[in-house]
Amino acid sequence: MPDCFDATVLENKQVAAEKIWRMKLWCPKIAREALPGQFITIKCEGSTFLRRPFSVGLVKKKRRLLLFSWGEPCSFFIHYKVVGPGTTWMSQRQKGEEMDVFGPLGGRGFIVYPHHQAILVAGGIGLAGLLRLGQAILAETKTRPILIFGVKDSRAFFALPLRSRRLNLQICTEDGSLGTKAKATECLEAALEEYRKQGTPVMVYAVGPRAMLRETAKITRERETPCQVLMEEMVGCGIGVCLGCTVPTTRNDWLKHTPICTYGPMFWRHEIEWQNLRY
Ligand SMILES: Cc1cc2nc3c(=O)[nH]c(=O)nc-3n(C[C@H](O)[C@H](O)[C@H](O)COP(=O)(O)OP(=O)(O)OC[C@H]3O[C@@H](n4cnc5c(N)ncnc54)[C@H](O)[C@@H]3O)c2cc1C
Ligand code: FES
Repeated sequence: MPDCFDATVLENKQVAAEKIWRMKLWCPKIAREALPGQFITIKCEGSTFLRRPFSVGLVKKKRRLLLFSWGEPCSFFIHYKVVGPGTTWMSQRQKGEEMDVFGPLGGRGFIVYPHHQAILVAGGIGLAGLLRLGQAILAETKTRPILIFGVKDSRAFFALPLRSRRLNLQICTEDGSLGTKAKATECLEAALEEYRKQGTPVMVYAVGPRAMLRETAKITRERETPCQVLMEEMVGCGIGVCLGCTVPTTRNDWLKHTPICTYGPMFWRHEIEWQNLRY
């Protein structure tokens, strides 16, 4: 059940030139309960009225010695891009301050398929919504997930806090300043082709700008590959009351316009009416 918490800021620092920040929050209940893809909302003071939603990223356990950690998860990271008053206010918070956090929110997070080759496709700050999933796949399966991280240029790149030799990280930039010069979706096409030849079943998970999600949906539809996407919309209440966060879906009932906060934010590609999205 989501609840309101005073979460203590353990760390808050800029991690990429393109105004991308990482915040670590102490909040054992959310760290323990948040599923991959779920999110929190933060009450930002100042000129903002609505709480601002952010994906729960990596969760951290209480005790740590060198590379080992144990005990219950007690803190978690969020990565955020400073785009307006709410995120500007967040970037000014100092270690030790308390934040009013509501969560974990979202009725349905990503579903891990342990016998499929996982391909995670992240566009820019969308990576924030995939880190908890990457952590879960590495912990729960023996597979070697691929993470395709596409950014505009090297200024928007931020180092992954997720370390594992099993993670196959592919970085691509539009201008070729880092990794491969390609769009994330072009790298996805190449990877899908490879696995098609091998006959390996694949599960695609995608988070990023709408244009990237549309293209990912098209590519996976054409190849009949299952695909889970994380939909972002303006979030108000976060609990299914205001209906401010709906996306058009193929559901055949009154919930054709489906709130992402209670039925998502994860949707299967075929559940979204891509042609009727607002943007
Ligand atoms: C489920 C979900 C998870 C998200 N996870 C992340 C994340 O991990 N990292 C990250 O950087 N961003 C994330 N976002 C987007 C983030 O919520 C917005 O960037 C943030 O609210 C901007 O607030 P602002 O006051 O700084 O900017 P504003 O000037 O208020 O808005 C800038 C833009 O942010 C969007 N936005 C504003 N308010 C909301 C709102 N209440 N709900 C949704 N979108 C809004 C609008 O598109 C707007 O154009 C997520 C959004 C959703 C819905
Ligand atoms: S934010 Fe109110 S219904 Fe989703």
